[in-house]
Amino acid sequence: MYKKLISFIQDLYNTKGSIPLHQPHFDDKDKEQIISTIDSTFVSSAGPLVGEFEEEICNFTGSKFAVAVVNGTSALHVALELSGVELGDEVLTQSLTFVASTNAINQCRAHPVFIDVSKETLGMCPISLQTFLYENCELRDGLCFNKKTNRAIKACLPMHTFGFPCETRKLETICNEFNIKLVEDSAESLGSFYDESHTGTIGECGVLSFNGNKIITAGAGGMIITNDEQFALKAKHITTTAKVNHRWNFDHDMPAYNYRMPNLNASLGLSQLKKIKFYLEQKRKIAERYKNWAQNNGSTLFWEQKNTKCNFWLNTLIAENKEERDLILKKTNDALIMTRPVWIPMHKLPFNTLHQKVNLDNTMWLADRIVNLPSSVPDND
Ligand SMILES: Cc1ncc(COP(=O)(O)O)c(C=O)c1O
Repeated sequence: MYKKLISFIQDLYNTKGSIPLHQPHFDDKDKEQIISTIDSTFVSSAGPLVGEFEEEICNFTGSKFAVAVVNGTSALHVALELSGVELGDEVLTQSLTFVASTNAINQCRAHPVFIDVSKETLGMCPISLQTFLYENCELRDGLCFNKKTNRAIKACLPMHTFGFPCETRKLETICNEFNIKLVEDSAESLGSFYDESHTGTIGECGVLSFNGNKIITAGAGGMIITNDEQFALKAKHITTTAKVNHRWNFDHDMPAYNYRMPNLNASLGLSQLKKIKFYLEQKRKIAERYKNWAQNNGSTLFWEQKNTKCNFWLNTLIAENKEERDLILKKTNDALIMTRPVWIPMHKLPFNTLHQKVNLDNTMWLADRIVNLPSSVPDND
């Protein structure tokens, strides 16, 4: 099985040399765009391309507003803060996620509570969320409180893992019942849809990342997407040092952040976004080839749910058990093929062990079995 997997991946990428997990794909147009931005001298916080990038992300996702920032983590931080998360509050999130989700909660000086994920979506499990809220929480004057800790729960932060949309409508209904704001971590899911809605557009807001390992990149960058104009205006203000608009005065009306995306990054993001349809088609083709291989070799490739469309950012094999997972990782990495396990679950990280958590059986089951496979768009396509 290991030999067959190795030669399949080598054929897929047409090399016996090293194969990365996910590398960015650039062409001459990306390079021309960057040179033209450098020539314009508008490489930093001023320039027209940030606004253009925001507009094009709105057009692509169907979101009414978008606010570009320096990375996905800062977007998460601001999204939570503007959802009302304050010192000492709690935020419900999944343990099976990248550390940025809990870092953003910590940046708000709030406490994460770890909810289980579903084996069908890899994202937050609605039943686990509902059970936690029914058993532990109550509304006091319209605000949700955790009866055990006496802390307010202001937001819920699910994540669309590897681009597979979680059951967002169900999560939204549960959050609404408890007056909790739904913030979608869509950092990995640009181009993924739940029903007909782009991920990140169902909750109060969604967050995107344009890190170099994502489906499109701006070098670095993030975006908050929302349908709420006031939320978007506040996000723009607080991420741009809360500067009061004036032709020459430097006046600021609140403590704020310098999170604005530089124009140079926006220019690359814009150029990459023009190719998103091509990337999505290519990635689906790669996923289908992996799926056929898995079916013919008695393996399981994780696949999208019926009412969703996945961007197939990272293809995901589910091993039989931890031992098989470790062998796949060893054999493929020995052959210079970069495969990876999923992140160590957040509740296992030393700085998170004291936080409240529910039964995380699915999280631990998946953590023992997930292997991410090389998923870059091939250079020769
Ligand atoms: C799930 C998730 N959330 C947030 C982030 C943070 O994005 P960034 O690296 O742009 O800060 C990432 C990726 O990097 C991610 O995978």
